[in-house]
Amino acid sequence: MSRTMSSAYMNWAKTSSTAKVNLATSGLGNLKLRELRVSLDDLEITNGGYGYQPLIQSIAARYRVDSETVVTAAGTTFANHLAMAALIEPGDEILFEHPAYEPMLAAALYLGAKVRRFARRIDNGFRIDPESLEVSPETRLIVLTNLHNPSGVLIDDAEMRRIGDVARGVGARVLVDEVYMETLFEDSPRTAFHLGNEFVVTSSLTKAFGLSGLRCGWIFAEPELAKRMWLLNDLFASTAVHAGERLSVIAMQQLGEIGARAKELLDRNRKLLNEFLDTREDLEVIRPEFGTVMFPRVRSESADDLCQLLCEKYETSVVPGRFFEMPAHFRVGIAGDSAVLEEGLQRLGLALDELNRG
Ligand SMILES: Cc1ncc(COP(=O)(O)O)c(C=O)c1O
Repeated sequence: MSRTMSSAYMNWAKTSSTAKVNLATSGLGNLKLRELRVSLDDLEITNGGYGYQPLIQSIAARYRVDSETVVTAAGTTFANHLAMAALIEPGDEILFEHPAYEPMLAAALYLGAKVRRFARRIDNGFRIDPESLEVSPETRLIVLTNLHNPSGVLIDDAEMRRIGDVARGVGARVLVDEVYMETLFEDSPRTAFHLGNEFVVTSSLTKAFGLSGLRCGWIFAEPELAKRMWLLNDLFASTAVHAGERLSVIAMQQLGEIGARAKELLDRNRKLLNEFLDTREDLEVIRPEFGTVMFPRVRSESADDLCQLLCEKYETSVVPGRFFEMPAHFRVGIAGDSAVLEEGLQRLGLALDELNRG
């Protein structure tokens, strides 16, 4: 079998996900440069070395971690890749959640991992039952997202600790992609990294703040492992775009205000989606308290017809569940403009009604 060399979801997201009414996105709308208080004099072109210390220290301070445990990377995407490349050898067994964020799964396959899956089921609220994780002495890594993409479900610290215990029991680590965790908008954001050295965590400023374009991502890993990642990165990115690092430091100083606006929008939009879902008996859904997405299930085997009708007749996009290996679902995002969400939900209702009439 040939090696995975691409991500079907990312390709779709870049080429086919946009519509007049776009409910396919999972991140806050892109902030404009003029919305950041920044002057050209704050920027510089070149740094060099292993990361930009002011950025590393900003991230470390925000999460109350030692700066030796921080590795910066181009977005959560590259943080995930670098972390897994440092953690697994080709042929190593890893346990990966299902449904999964496909580009992360594709990276694991690209790296040659022997991927086994564990289920997060709608009838269990997409929670993880630590006792059902089928680890073996060969398991090197358990991989999950928190909040879960696509369902938005939060794993709390108690559950996460139990997952950590299971991993530690076989000498494995747990990689947690926490990119949606910032949508809790906590003053001192929590991270599974505080729960023990078996945890390796990735995140970025992408989802909650509309700062995807800064590619300000990071990994938290115990210092020796973090050092291994910095050295491995010499083979990949070597150094970051320094102007981006400087902009990221400036953005981090303004996250309070940016986050307050984002929280207001998400609270309003979550209410809109919940009100819509109250009217739909044809959709089964877990309604998460946080995050930017929900993952309803239609009452047939595939939501593809719905997604197609929605796109072609109603000019509205959602993410077909097949990209998350659950074709009966679709993912709807609430991080966009409220008026667009309202319009999109109305169109979604019309498309569902049309399909129900047969
Ligand atoms: C779970 C998860 N990880 C990573 C990313 C990508 O993050 P970034 O833009 O920081 O690379 C996404 C974006 O959809 C995501 O859902």
